[in-house]
Amino acid sequence: MTNTFRLHVTGRDGKVRESDARIDVSLLTILRDAGIDEISAMCGGNCSCATCHVYVDVGPSLPGPAIEESEMLDTLVHQTSLSRLACQVALSAGISALRVEVAPEE
Ligand code: FES
Repeated sequence: MTNTFRLHVTGRDGKVRESDARIDVSLLTILRDAGIDEISAMCGGNCSCATCHVYVDVGPSLPGPAIEESEMLDTLVHQTSLSRLACQVALSAGISALRVEVAPEE
């Protein structure tokens, strides 16, 4: 099983960037490694700021958010059914591609 996958990221400017990414780190780290610098992640990945809000389209292969993440997402104006906090998303081996869109600033 491969430890990399194809990452497609749509930024706030609407441009799509693609790269290969490692699986064994958080989605926030993956996005930073991919050069996505528009996510401020003010709390440093501690699930307490929601400035790492993204939309993730990965289907049922991604476990849903934990209670703490859900509570933070519920505070967001731009929350949708695809909303996740990038710092809380851990990917599992077997994923081949992931589409992520950076959510609007709150
Ligand atoms: S970086 Fe603050 S909630 Fe994710």
